[in-house]
Amino acid sequence: MGRIALIAANWKMYKTPAEAKAFTDAFLPLVAGHTRDQIALFPSVTSLATVVEAVKGSNVAAGLQNMHFAEEGAYTGETSALMLKAVGATHTLIGHSERRQYFAETDEIVNKKLHTALRHGIVPVVCIGEVLAEREAGLTADVLKTQITGAFAGITAEAATPIVIAYEPVWAIGTGKTATPEMAVEAHKIIRAEVAKLLGSGIAVNVRILYGGSVKPENASALLNEEEIDGALVGGASLKPDSFAAIVKY
Ligand code: G3P
Repeated sequence: MGRIALIAANWKMYKTPAEAKAFTDAFLPLVAGHTRDQIALFPSVTSLATVVEAVKGSNVAAGLQNMHFAEEGAYTGETSALMLKAVGATHTLIGHSERRQYFAETDEIVNKKLHTALRHGIVPVVCIGEVLAEREAGLTADVLKTQITGAFAGITAEAATPIVIAYEPVWAIGTGKTATPEMAVEAHKIIRAEVAKLLGSGIAVNVRILYGGSVKPENASALLNEEEIDGALVGGASLKPDSFAAIVKY
């Protein structure tokens, strides 16, 4: 299909700048020759500048786990797209399920953040996924369609090229329960079809859809060898250089 995979590390609220630097010191040599896929690290805000500096000139990109939709303003505790760019970062996660669950992030907020990221040339990784009760009630397709439609409101096909989508079933995050490759493929197909409906088949064919949720070195190959799965967004197993490198080299 020609889509270049993206293997991304979401460190969540782990790693001080010193710990982040120790990670990159160990990790970069392990993936130095790896050109098949793109690699990105999403550290905490306080480690972002350290990581940007450490990955300079390497094949690894850096981004934030969350970004506000406003350029600047009275938003205590938040980080803007301009701040992200000023330290030299290039990517941001948007709408991670933990943001939705603990910080009341709605599809409307996700949509505003997506517009802001695209306006500033930041690569957005839009996270979507159903919770266990929704899957058990047979609502997965509906939930994914609603999240995609909400996130993409007002986004044109011309602007959409940089967008990356991460399918992260919430019941698989940090639980050790991974979606089977079949389940992930089925969800990715639903998402791709919805993108085609909203933005046309040209965008849908090219949009990268990552899988996230208990990806580990042991299950990475089975998931990532599926043509529908264009990479991984990795939490727990991305915290150790050797395990994340093993996933990159699935
Ligand atoms: O964003 C990645 C994530 O939520 C998955 O976490 O720990 O299940 O790999 P984990």
